Amino acid sequence: MDMKKPESSSRMASHVTKPEDAASGLAKGLTDYGDKGFSLFLRKAFIKGAGYTERALERPVIGIANTASAYNPCHGNAPQLIEAVKRGILLAGGLPMDFPTISLHESFSQPTSMYLRNLMAMDTEEMIRAQPMDAVVLIGGCDKTLPAQLMGAASAGIPTIQLVTGSMLTGSHRSERVGACTDCRRFWGQYRADQIDAEEISAVNNQLVASVGTCSVMGTASTMACLAEALGMMVPGGASAPAVTADRIRIAEETGTLAVQMAGSGLTIDRILTAQAFENAMRVLLAIGGSSNGIVHLTAIAGRLGFAVDLKALDRMSLETPVLLDLKPSGQHYMEDFHKAGGMATLLRELKPLLHLDALTVTGRTLGQEIARAGPGFAQDVVRPLSNPIYPQGGIAVLQGNLAPGGAIIKQSAAAPALMEHEGRAVVFENVQDMARRIDDPALDVHADDILVLKNIGPVGAPGMPEAGYLPIPMKLARAGVKDMVRISDGRMSGTAAGTIVLHVTPEAAIGGPLAQVRSGDRIRLSVARRELSLLISEEELAARTQANPVARPTAERGYRKLFLQSVTQADQGVDFDFLRAPTTRQTIPGAK
Ligand code: FES
Repeated sequence: MDMKKPESSSRMASHVTKPEDAASGLAKGLTDYGDKGFSLFLRKAFIKGAGYTERALERPVIGIANTASAYNPCHGNAPQLIEAVKRGILLAGGLPMDFPTISLHESFSQPTSMYLRNLMAMDTEEMIRAQPMDAVVLIGGCDKTLPAQLMGAASAGIPTIQLVTGSMLTGSHRSERVGACTDCRRFWGQYRADQIDAEEISAVNNQLVASVGTCSVMGTASTMACLAEALGMMVPGGASAPAVTADRIRIAEETGTLAVQMAGSGLTIDRILTAQAFENAMRVLLAIGGSSNGIVHLTAIAGRLGFAVDLKALDRMSLETPVLLDLKPSGQHYMEDFHKAGGMATLLRELKPLLHLDALTVTGRTLGQEIARAGPGFAQDVVRPLSNPIYPQGGIAVLQGNLAPGGAIIKQSAAAPALMEHEGRAVVFENVQDMARRIDDPALDVHADDILVLKNIGPVGAPGMPEAGYLPIPMKLARAGVKDMVRISDGRMSGTAAGTIVLHVTPEAAIGGPLAQVRSGDRIRLSVARRELSLLISEEELAARTQANPVARPTAERGYRKLFLQSVTQADQGVDFDFLRAPTTRQTIPGAK
């Protein structure tokens, strides 16, 4: 073999930067071979195999987390967005490097996408750490992807900017405008109640998702997009543009350009995700009638940075924060209407008196400066003024009582007013399988004023806290015209769902919470006005039942499931893994304004 000598050291010097001299760009985070010079030499040799020139490799490196997947139509435009992000990076003098991570779609994640959110967060965090990048662009959208990305990036700590894929377009069924997924549930309810036939439900199925992109109502994806913009993590206006519009592509290009700017100025994620930023996001969550999942995800992101979310304080915040956004399921419109109405700038302008305007954003300017830059508002009917809200309080109320010592929540803006003060007889299902077996049984002893209780769908119970908290109305009652009932569980529900539904009961049944001891026939009282959720039995009776029926926490023998069951926290800690949260809590939010 012809063993040629390596290039002379003087020639090599022009091609290989000594890592000690530049802990940025391609020289960041070198693979450990015990010789850093060799590590960089080898890295450059391999990347040059892909055709890169030395000039390109000298630029700041901007990572792009690519969540394109054939299993994720909500991210169907990701390739186009990546192209635009790259253009923005190149225009600003950076070197774009896209890399794959886990992608999660709600309908293609078994048992539930929430079970996998923390795995995606770990993937995102470790890939940001492992690979050289001076800033990262996160491309997410479908419900759990954006929270997973922000959780991981918050822990990784480098300059970070979020881009969402954007909402899908609405479709049309027999001239009626429809969109996923509030209308999915409405039409399915009509089908279950025999109001529409198999042919019509099949036709509806073709129209609900009219393009790639995320759900077109204020579900979890839209909620998290709005929260990311409120947090300051996104190009202003980046939350609302639909997936298939020119605006969305321009936002992607601008995202790439800003990422280079952030890399240059060292604007790390912890300087944006402050206590004030999280309080702003909570205000926005309440004002948009956002998904109840939003509070779990915000808690998890905040927990990565040492912030604890105080649910009682959130509830106090809710009393003074009205719902302003007229979007389904709390209102009438869809995300594309919100975008035409000016998007988040219109909402933030109205909410200004309630926001921390000095919170920093990815642009390097404050939220207040960005609101001012957006200019004056204009006539529109999607965002209401503070003086004429859709709902007088925030969308989410926090409940407490002997049934939920650690708290529970109800999306009051999407609940039936007549049921918000209600006492009824419990009809209990032990788990999802039990519910599926019995709920449509004509012999089920259930009446319209009963309260449906579903146990064991919490973080540990199912596992993964599935969106099964939206219990269907029992078939015989649905056919009799019953549209809503009080329903209680330790699980979650889709942000696209509506009804008088109590969720996130903490602690959950599977770890021995009081919910485990509820029996059919018990009486339960829900008072949203008093923020109360009570099981109407004596303390002694509850203690006796707990002693007679001890609960063993589920375990698994191996794999991710074992890690999950051992490490997952409750809803009030964001359902994150205990070892991924910041080791200490430095501040509780929301604090005093
Ligand atoms: Fe992806 Fe609704 S299923 S956003």
